[in-house]
Amino acid sequence: MDPVQMLMDDHRKVEQLSEQFESADSASEKKKIAQEALQELEVHAAIEEEIFYPAVRKKAGDDGKDMMLEAEEEHHVVHVLVDELKAMRSVTDRYEAKFTVLMENVKHHVKEEEMDMLPKARTLLGDDGAELAERMQKRKQQLMADVK
Ligand SMILES: [Fe+2]
Repeated sequence: MDPVQMLMDDHRKVEQLSEQFESADSASEKKKIAQEALQELEVHAAIEEEIFYPAVRKKAGDDGKDMMLEAEEEHHVVHVLVDELKAMRSVTDRYEAKFTVLMENVKHHVKEEEMDMLPKARTLLGDDGAELAERMQKRKQQLMADVK
């Protein structure tokens, strides 16, 4: 298993949900899609923050410091918006606007990861990637079970 591929699969999933949200016509449908997207994002971010980022940071040393700090700050913005959306009960115009801004932030972050950090991480991790992917997979199953 490849940890970078795992993260990229998550990215595609969230992108799909974002498109589904836009094309859904009822508020209840939008709510269902948004809730799934928020859950995906939280689990994905937790796995990166708990396991993937620390492993990459360790390998990258000082060279990767700025790149990792920026990724963490982008996650911070995502968390703020996810928490605000979770606190909102119904899909109002405000909810839709906030969800759209969240997705714009996620898209920017995904682009940076996929163009820059993930290719670098793949090289840095080398043979250690398989073991890391296994830990990520286990943690993901745990987290998914927790939120259900
Ligand atoms: Fe990320």
